[in-house]
Amino acid sequence: MENEKMTLTKTAKLVLQEQEYELPTFTGSEGEVGIDISQLRSKTGAITADSGYGNTGSCQSAITFIDGEKGILRYRGYPIEELAEKSNFTEVSYLLIFGHLPNKKELEKFQFGLTHHSLIHEDMKKFYEGFPPTAHPMGILSSMVSSLSAFYPEAGYNADVELNIIRLLSKLKTIAAFSYKKSIGQPYVYPRNDLSYSADMLHMMFAVPSEVYEVPKVLEEALDLLLILHADHEQNCSTSTVRMVGSSEANLFASISAGICALWGPLHGGANQQVITMLEKIRDDGGDYKKYINLAKDKESKFKLMGFGHRVYKNFDPRAKILKASADKVLEQLGVKDPMLDIAKNLEEIALKDPFFIERKLYPNVDFYSGIIYRAMGIPTNMFTVMFALGRLPGWIAQWKEMRETPGARIYRPRQIYVGETTRSYVALEKR
Ligand code: SDX
Repeated sequence: MENEKMTLTKTAKLVLQEQEYELPTFTGSEGEVGIDISQLRSKTGAITADSGYGNTGSCQSAITFIDGEKGILRYRGYPIEELAEKSNFTEVSYLLIFGHLPNKKELEKFQFGLTHHSLIHEDMKKFYEGFPPTAHPMGILSSMVSSLSAFYPEAGYNADVELNIIRLLSKLKTIAAFSYKKSIGQPYVYPRNDLSYSADMLHMMFAVPSEVYEVPKVLEEALDLLLILHADHEQNCSTSTVRMVGSSEANLFASISAGICALWGPLHGGANQQVITMLEKIRDDGGDYKKYINLAKDKESKFKLMGFGHRVYKNFDPRAKILKASADKVLEQLGVKDPMLDIAKNLEEIALKDPFFIERKLYPNVDFYSGIIYRAMGIPTNMFTVMFALGRLPGWIAQWKEMRETPGARIYRPRQIYVGETTRSYVALEKR
């Protein structure tokens, strides 16, 4: 039933084993209705079961609103389309974390912090030497972020949160860029205080000591847009992981390191890398994209159309729409002709007409087009999920901070329904 048609009562009635119970309900600012089951077990002895938590709210949050049926995404009430067109990643990071668009003074102070905390301790460079050249940069990223708690031991759960937020926002791009330089055997390029967040990231990745590298405006703007679009997405897998770890009062660096690991999975942030792998496979297989649409429909094949489908969006992912338009513009401005973009568009066109995808409401998600833009920018495929993590960092931080500031916030500890062996006695080895 749609919220606007529901007749809201103050309670929901549950009949269990012929006993009737009343459960309180509450309504969010966008009309979403929640049934409060926090007393369910003590009242009824029963718990709910919701594999994948598709129907379970872990918290009340004021950060990001998504309407999956209508394809709506807003950060602190601002539509993603407006922020993508008019804002920038630094400003959006401030908005997500502190809840309002910064005025000039607030933005200057925030920008100064992001600029002047971008170096990492020189001893941290030794960690890169320990990784094999084939190490995936997401594994390096999570390890390096977790190690920050060794260099800032005072950064505990109750420490100066704002300083540690600035440190992490500022250092993550340096850690990411250094892992890229290490992987290609080039010297590290240090952060520059005169560049924007996105320009500095690209400069650290693509500059070489032997020549002056000016970051092209088209690349700086493309990266800034990608970071804005990835900045938060309410209680997705990695954000829920950050909240889960933070709920034990683990420090910010440990919580974010766990979120990076969750994002790495191919069903989540790792999908952007898998989309390119899939498109390359289709290209190398003569571009026969209909064959792969049929494979995706065949359960036995285990093949999924990467970059398609979403737990929440049952309509277009608004970020995919923006990225599809941006992909055309960026490739044209860069003079890049990428056959993978044509394959992606053909896949999308066919899938959106196919009953299998229509019935399951499978649309392109944020990962479907992002990889094509990263590729055109010269960013290697194994760095795509690292770029996702860079974008998602302010969202993770905002959600961690909101959880930490929620009165009465409790450690996350779900229950289970046990389906294993009932009690039995030990059997000596010789009798087994
Ligand atoms: C992100 O949560 C977020 O907000 C995430 C994210 C963010 O910003 O944080 O938006 C970022 O993670 C986007 C998603 C990136 N992942 C992919 O593109 C991987 C491919 N997509 C699927 O693995 C899947 O769609 C998920 C993981 C995204 C969603 O999985 P759900 O919600 O558990 O859905 P499901 O697996 O139950 O699928 C429902 C049906 C199934 O078929 P039936 O059993 O009903 O017959 O749709 C099928 C699935 O087999 N299906 C697909 C498919 N995705 C779902 N079939 C083919 N190709 C696909 N991509």
